[in-house]
Amino acid sequence: EKDITILAIESSCDETAAAVIRNGREVLSNVISSQIELHKLYGGVVPEIASRKHIEKINQVIEEALSEAGITLDDLDAIGVTYGPGLVGALLVGVAEAKAISYVKNLPLVGVHHIEGHISANYIEHPDLEPQFLCLVVSGGHTHLVLVRDYGKYEIIGRTRDDAAGEAFDKVARAIGLGYPGGPKIDKLAKEGNADAIPFPRAHIEGSVYDFSFSGLKSAVLNYINSCQMKGVEINRADVAASFQKAVTDVLVHNAMQAVKEYGIKKLAIAGGVASNSSLRNAMREACEKNNIEFYHPSPVFCTDNAAMIGVAAYYDYINGTRHGLDLNAVPNLKL
Ligand code: KG4
Ligand code: ZN
Repeated sequence: EKDITILAIESSCDETAAAVIRNGREVLSNVISSQIELHKLYGGVVPEIASRKHIEKINQVIEEALSEAGITLDDLDAIGVTYGPGLVGALLVGVAEAKAISYVKNLPLVGVHHIEGHISANYIEHPDLEPQFLCLVVSGGHTHLVLVRDYGKYEIIGRTRDDAAGEAFDKVARAIGLGYPGGPKIDKLAKEGNADAIPFPRAHIEGSVYDFSFSGLKSAVLNYINSCQMKGVEINRADVAASFQKAVTDVLVHNAMQAVKEYGIKKLAIAGGVASNSSLRNAMREACEKNNIEFYHPSPVFCTDNAAMIGVAAYYDYINGTRHGLDLNAVPNLKL
């Protein structure tokens, strides 16, 4: 059978990324131009700066992705692109670029949901993984428990009521002076701290067992820091980081385990930037072993935003017949 080669583009937040994927799971190239250094100066992503940087970088990133894969635009079968959710101005850059290539080269255009991309990152390094499975998507913007019924068929069974897990990491990191992005820094500092030092709350939502809430935890951390300052006691930042991280991890693992048991699912995957967190990975692996569940997670480079995951999702959408027209638009609040 003929190979299917897809160029994928991702520009929903602060990474300009392009990748070439063959037959859905083989990554021929995966180029990511991160804007983190730029946004660091402001303590978070500045949407207009992100859009402008995408415009500057996108052609170069695509050229690199093609040349690393050893192909040209003439070798492609389709173009995949993230069209939501995300920052509208950032998304528009990738969408406009994908439409231009699709038009000029007369290639099928496949718009991809960003979360579907994160979930699909698990297929890259696990050739044996197929639906159905449960996926915990934990990123800077999302915290979802998703039942993957089949390729392209998703059922959201739990979600955050307020902050996303990654957002909580970033806010707590800022409060203890670690800077942006906070997740990896808390992960690192927590290794030197005692996770049982401070009893931060584990929020469980009345009547909805799979939903999450992290704003109470975030406030508890801020209150703890304030009360230490008022008492003139120096805080142990490593203990705060470790105790906070443990509180997040406990809730994520608890809800995920409830769900696999309730739905009788034997496979659990994690995805999104926070899925590279070492405490979450270890705790989830342990819980899965205890409950006889197969555990999957992507390498860190496929956890945070990248275009390879978009190419994988685009492949399955493509073979299932998804085609978008040249009127494809960015949808900042796109539903899964
Ligand atoms: O998936 P992602 O790159 O972007 C979104 O789609 O949101 O996720 C970024 C988020 C940030 O909040 C970042 O702090 C968090 O993932 N993150 C981590 C780690 N690495 C990245 N959080 C905890 N531990 C990490 N090691
Ligand atoms: Zn993401």
